[in-house]
Amino acid sequence: MKRTAHTVSAEEMKRQHAFTEEIRTLPQRPETYYVVTYGCQMNAHDSEKLAGMLREMGMTEAKAKDEADFVIFNTCCIRENAERRALGNITWLREVRKKNPGLMIAVCGCMIQEPGMAEKILKQYGFINLAFGTSNLYRFPELLYRALNTDQSTVIVEECDVVPEGLPILRARKESAYLTIMYGCNNYCSYCIVPYVRGRERSREPAAILREAEDLLNSGVREIMLLGQNVNSYGKDLPEGKSFAGLLKELDRMGIPRIRFMTSHPKDLSDELIDAMAGSVHILPQFHLPVQSGSDRILEAMNRHYTRRQYLDRVRRLRDAVPGIGLSTDIIVGFPGETEEDFLQTMELVREVGYDSAFTFIYSPRTGTRAASLPDQIIPETATERIQRLISLQETLQQTTMSRFIGMEEEILTEGFSRRSSEAVSGKGRHGISVTVPGSAKDIGKIVKCRITGLKNNTLTAERIE
Ligand code: 5AD
Ligand code: SF4
Repeated sequence: MKRTAHTVSAEEMKRQHAFTEEIRTLPQRPETYYVVTYGCQMNAHDSEKLAGMLREMGMTEAKAKDEADFVIFNTCCIRENAERRALGNITWLREVRKKNPGLMIAVCGCMIQEPGMAEKILKQYGFINLAFGTSNLYRFPELLYRALNTDQSTVIVEECDVVPEGLPILRARKESAYLTIMYGCNNYCSYCIVPYVRGRERSREPAAILREAEDLLNSGVREIMLLGQNVNSYGKDLPEGKSFAGLLKELDRMGIPRIRFMTSHPKDLSDELIDAMAGSVHILPQFHLPVQSGSDRILEAMNRHYTRRQYLDRVRRLRDAVPGIGLSTDIIVGFPGETEEDFLQTMELVREVGYDSAFTFIYSPRTGTRAASLPDQIIPETATERIQRLISLQETLQQTTMSRFIGMEEEILTEGFSRRSSEAVSGKGRHGISVTVPGSAKDIGKIVKCRITGLKNNTLTAERIE
């Protein structure tokens, strides 16, 4: 297995661009495309890159997947249900193909990068035209060109830790933009498949990140979301030893109104980063800090490299430095060997921290990870019963934690009309919580000043103050 971590050369990117130009003039090229995205922000951003490349090839987006000439599934494999949903949808397209024999189907993303998956795809889903893994995204023009010139499935997966630069991006939102700062993960949490499908940690050069941020600022973007599987270890692989805190300070000086980032690993959350947040103007007072479990025994089995006490210490430091900070987390229940006592420690930790939101998951064994072969796998009934108790606790606590905002002034970046009213708009406040405020179409995509007046169904309501 060959592993290289390098920036894809400008010559290679030019070569890919030449394929894009070729595809533009191919008579058999699809006219319209539709990208179906599963999974996290990283995948959503990869889909924006696919859309950017497709636009350069002269294609336009179809309104729905069953109206498109070319459907691309950008898959996720973090839990079994994500994978099952994607495979179900791909199978459904086989029927659509019967009505529209010219339909092209591509599958890409994390699932394809799983060991053995490419072979499985070839065998069971032979009707797919093209499959490629996350590390080959930048080669999409070349691969599509090949697929358009053959009747066979084109499947490609390489173990190659690359850093592509200069891919075209067609962003889904104008006012808020994703910006990747690093790829991959080195942590090998024992339940997690990400390091196997996204490769080793590799940081983008600071100059490339700053250039992209500058362009976004000049294009009128109000918010950037920095992306990486573990942003706190940004720069450790760069020769000049840049830190994430250092990068944040430079971005803060640039004047982008709002800066957010995800995801952080508690073990790498440095005081330097907390101080950088406290001293910044534009970094939003919010933090996503996955805890996964409140039991030291389980944290160790998960290979998380922190204890419950160390985690709580980080939370305390964050709250001292950035008063009122919005806190969210990820929690897994039903990890192998989790006893009722372990689970109660998670419940207790959730009570102690008082999160503004928590993403809760039932442990899902992933082939090839260490936890998948552990004894004492928890039966689904127990895991389901635990997650229900956890969700219900979090819902109750959230009423109290979120009510601390009532009476406060907030600025929201509106995303669209409120789901409940055509005379109200909603978006995220600086603390990361959804807020609904009276407004109209002209407010969408803008930062609106308001005062929080109440709390309804986990959404804050507000009145305008300007
Ligand atoms: N099963 C359940 N949840 C998982 N996560 C990662 N791997 C698994 C798994 N095998 C959760 C973690 C992570 C979030 C993105 O997904 O909580 O933080
Ligand atoms: Fe997975 Fe752990 Fe890496 Fe997050 S830090 S992507 S949970 S291995």
